[in-house]
Amino acid sequence: MKKVLFASVIFALLITSCGKDKKAETKTTAEPVVEQAAKEVKEVKSDAAVAQDQVAMGEKLFTSKTCASCHAIDTKLVGPSVKDIVKKYEETNGNIVAFLKEKSPAIVDTDPGQVAIMKGNLDGFVKDLTGDELQAIAAYMRSKK
Ligand code: HEC
Repeated sequence: MKKVLFASVIFALLITSCGKDKKAETKTTAEPVVEQAAKEVKEVKSDAAVAQDQVAMGEKLFTSKTCASCHAIDTKLVGPSVKDIVKKYEETNGNIVAFLKEKSPAIVDTDPGQVAIMKGNLDGFVKDLTGDELQAIAAYMRSKK
């Protein structure tokens, strides 16, 4: 009889301790879910910050990849000003990235000599830039309109 009692006490202890473990488990699996939700809220909030980062990256590339040596913001240097380029692309619903990928022809300055200068860049180093980098450059240019 004592043995049975002892066994049932052990059994009861086992059950309660299992129960405790389960509770602890549900807590730990719930935590990442909450953390994930908080992270998502943060991500939604920072959409504007992401766009800002893209423009900042584009600005850096525009200088470091020598675009700035031929393109000023307001005035024509060797190539048209950034403002003139963006204006033309907006008026015609053009795609700057497509031009940089050589998937659409020049529309701002179609003088063959001028087009050849820019084409030299496209064939030379612009083709080595990633899609993200080209998007960033275009976003920076559009931010200067
Ligand atoms: C050596 C001078 C030079 C450099 C460097 C240069 N460009 Fe140009 N770019 C030109 C000239 C000249 C034109 C005018 C011909 C034309 O429109 O294609 C032009 C035109 C453009 C156009 C307008 C294309 C159109 O539709 O007519 C864009 C956009 C452009 N450049 C972007 C860039 C970017 C981005 C860079 C840097 C990755 C860059 N350029 C570097 C000389 C240059």
